Amino acid sequence: MLTKKTVISGPSSQLLGLRLSRHLKTNVVPIEFKTFPDGERYIRIKGEPKNCNAVVVQSIIPPNPDRSIIELCFILETLKELGVEKVTAVIPYFAYARQDKRFLPGEAVSGRIICDIIQNAGADEVVTVDVHNKRILENFKIPAKDVSAVTLLGEYLNRFKPNNPLIISPDEGAKERAQALADFMEAEYVILSKFRDKHTGEIETKIKEINVTNRDVIIVDDIISTGNTMINAIEIAKSQGASRIYTACTHAILVGDSRFRIINAGADEIIGTDTVPSDVSLVSVAPIIAEALKE
Ligand code: R5P
Repeated sequence: MLTKKTVISGPSSQLLGLRLSRHLKTNVVPIEFKTFPDGERYIRIKGEPKNCNAVVVQSIIPPNPDRSIIELCFILETLKELGVEKVTAVIPYFAYARQDKRFLPGEAVSGRIICDIIQNAGADEVVTVDVHNKRILENFKIPAKDVSAVTLLGEYLNRFKPNNPLIISPDEGAKERAQALADFMEAEYVILSKFRDKHTGEIETKIKEINVTNRDVIIVDDIISTGNTMINAIEIAKSQGASRIYTACTHAILVGDSRFRIINAGADEIIGTDTVPSDVSLVSVAPIIAEALKE
């Protein structure tokens, strides 16, 4: 007999959880959450999620990613205490995945530590979306899988009917993503080289001759955080005669004034998904998560 799935939308993924429940044709158990006057978090699962497989949807997002982690752990542990058989932690944006190793002596390998915390809190299975580095999932001793939003982004971008588009990967790390998007959109792609100073975090993108004159450009990455990576790529494309410039990513963190700076640098659109809720969450990843959970 198949056990019924029940979705629990964590505080950071309320709408995505609802959308997922619709795709799964299942119900959502409401939760109550608040912050006490002293800053401590409170979580209450309102309902009786017994005899079911619970799917907890909770991205780890700014402005307080650590709070998202604590909330996720509170939910996972409580579900187990309430007698839920199996708990799947869907973590659409898995923050800390960029720190998957010790780049400088003495650094915390925070990505691995977060995996340990989530597993110890009771997750039986983990699903992420376009995790920065899939290697991070090898830290889990439970099944962990990553799904890609590239096709969904491609479908959305196709609506603009881009003219002879060139897909740009703004660094070597985004190569596979750019390649997959180019395959989907039947377009060409190029890869830029980006260097990051391990101490200051500052980046530099090597200028490269690219064939963009009078063509539309799509720059695709997994994350837009400060926007600096995108802006460097936009400037290279713009200076070489690109027409429209679309910036697309799965996780539009967009800290500070990055949105303004990206548009000001010459981008026409910023397209993100609902892994990080914002007004550029133009694409929902609910269908690919639902698909992964059905497998
Ligand atoms: C890192 O390599 C990631 O794939 C992104 O390129 C990076 O996180 C983007 O960060 P920012 O917007 O701060 O340049």
